[in-house]
Amino acid sequence: MRTHYCGDVAVPDIGGRVSLTGWVHRRRDHGGVIFLDVRDRTGIVQVVYDPDTPEPFGIAEGIRNEYVLGIEGRVRPRPEGTVNPDMKTGEVEVLGDALVILNRSETPPFVLDEYSDAGEEVRLKHRFLDLRRPEMQERLRLRARAVSHVRRVLEEEGFWDIETPTLTKTTPEGARDYLVPSRTHPGEFFALPQSPQIFKQLLMMSGFDKYYQIARCYRDEDLRAHRQPEFTQIDIEASFVAEQEVMRLTERLMKSLFRDVIDVELPDFPVITHADALRRFGTDAPDLRNPLELVDIADLVRDAAFKVFSGPANSPGGRVVALKGPAAATKLSRRELDDYVGFVGRYGAKGLAYIKVNDRARGMDGLQSPILKHLEPLAVEAVLDRVEAQTDDIVFFGADAAKVVNDAMGAFREELAGALGLVEDRWAPCWVTEFPLFEPGRETLTPAHHPFTQPACSIEDLYEGPHAANARAYDFVLNGTEVGGGSIRIHDPGMQRAVFDVLGIGQEAEAKFGFLIDALALGCPPHGGIAIGFDRLMMFLAGTDNIRDVIAFPKTQSATCLMTSAPSPVDEQQLRELHIRIR
Ligand code: AMO
Ligand code: AMP
Repeated sequence: MRTHYCGDVAVPDIGGRVSLTGWVHRRRDHGGVIFLDVRDRTGIVQVVYDPDTPEPFGIAEGIRNEYVLGIEGRVRPRPEGTVNPDMKTGEVEVLGDALVILNRSETPPFVLDEYSDAGEEVRLKHRFLDLRRPEMQERLRLRARAVSHVRRVLEEEGFWDIETPTLTKTTPEGARDYLVPSRTHPGEFFALPQSPQIFKQLLMMSGFDKYYQIARCYRDEDLRAHRQPEFTQIDIEASFVAEQEVMRLTERLMKSLFRDVIDVELPDFPVITHADALRRFGTDAPDLRNPLELVDIADLVRDAAFKVFSGPANSPGGRVVALKGPAAATKLSRRELDDYVGFVGRYGAKGLAYIKVNDRARGMDGLQSPILKHLEPLAVEAVLDRVEAQTDDIVFFGADAAKVVNDAMGAFREELAGALGLVEDRWAPCWVTEFPLFEPGRETLTPAHHPFTQPACSIEDLYEGPHAANARAYDFVLNGTEVGGGSIRIHDPGMQRAVFDVLGIGQEAEAKFGFLIDALALGCPPHGGIAIGFDRLMMFLAGTDNIRDVIAFPKTQSATCLMTSAPSPVDEQQLRELHIRIR
């Protein structure tokens, strides 16, 4: 039906005939001449019909947005002054001499170029239309290129693509399962996988050595900005490897992907331990583009009369930190400073003390703060020395239980760097390692990752002090977002039982994962791997902060599909077959 894609018509085609197909992006009537911007997945080309060819001209007069057309004509240079340098085909146009309407369109619910006025709800309801927008086409094109690159690299590295079931049994990754009722087994359910974790480990036990899969995962969890109920992982597992091999492979993969797809050279990935990340940045997913760091000062304020500081400074689970805002006194208004108290309050902080350094040379007289009267001058000097405060800096303080300080001051560190314009314009990947095995600070033990992660200690030490145990786990963080995570796995059935045991799920785990423990006991190689959140990765590659922008048919924040209206009720007959009655 066509000789060229619309976006490919170019200067070398001038003088030649072309047949095009596509959608009417825009139609303009210019006193006797009709201009059609015709669009397909490659771009837009301008087609002109004039009354010299009365038949197609007549058809063109009745054309509306989003009609589907077949066009024939001759390519010619655009007249001087009408060249459009912003358009790929901006130097040429097609003088049409034949035109067929392949299909009509009703008036679309929104004009593609005015999509932002339509709002995301309307766009998601008519997603097929929204996806026609060049920007969306480009993002999904980028996604296709990225996935193809990932496959190529992993295959070159010796990884085999092996599919694993999606009608399966629970895989614990910390979310709720999506369940699928069984018709043939009344009262029983499949679970959709939260990840292929167990299967990829079993594939190592089967001797496949290197596995990968572009795997769909399902998690029924609270949806935040970077989450979807179903999402895609680049899932990787390898045998006879330690942390270094998995981390290096991931680094090679990410560097070549960024180079190939968006022409970016990622720097080497620095390694930061979990403890250091919390200490310096208050978070286990630090944004290293931000130069600000938290500085511990508990030792300097232990004896202070100011209970807000000395309380947490003397309590075992407490933390007191200072965060210096360089030149903040010249950049932040009183109002902004007041608002920050509310900001940290959202993370549970009871306040945000600060000292304004009006003149560092004048000692205590050069400082301004209501808390000064409660503090020893020597302690204040020591604090200011430690953070290397200078004139016009503001030094902020957080004092509370360590978790509250980390959450509040970690978030405030981002806020403050943003306000001060300090976030560097670069790519900042890193590894976070030496995670605790279990979520810190919780009464009942919960795995920080999943219960198949190899503890960095012996079985005896695990029983003795599970809270102190570290995991052989690593997260890949990019610009402050966790993009991937993995670990070396338990390959010893005794250790696996011990982990289930200290989690208090020994019995339950035997019923749920008995097959895994059996397999561990039948010749399991040491193994490990990682999963990279492909949708999150695509957000970076496409330069968007909305995960729905890189997924063709995404779900809303409340986990529904506005286009298909899924989830939706099913008829009585279907429920009966599934042995289900709605409560
Ligand atoms: P984890 O649970 O850390 O590890 O998941 C790996 C990566 O998947 C992405 N991700 C998500 N992306 C979008 N929406 C979600 N709801 C969502 N949840 C997770 C994140 C995350 O870093 N089996 C282990 C991996 C392993 O140990 O090899 C796992 O699934 O980018
Ligand atoms: P107050 O003694 O309550 O008037 O507090 C004095 C200053 O300390 C105010 O600026 C408060 O915002 C601040 N503040 C109170 N609690 C904390 C806290 N837990 N961490 C840091 N600053 C605090």
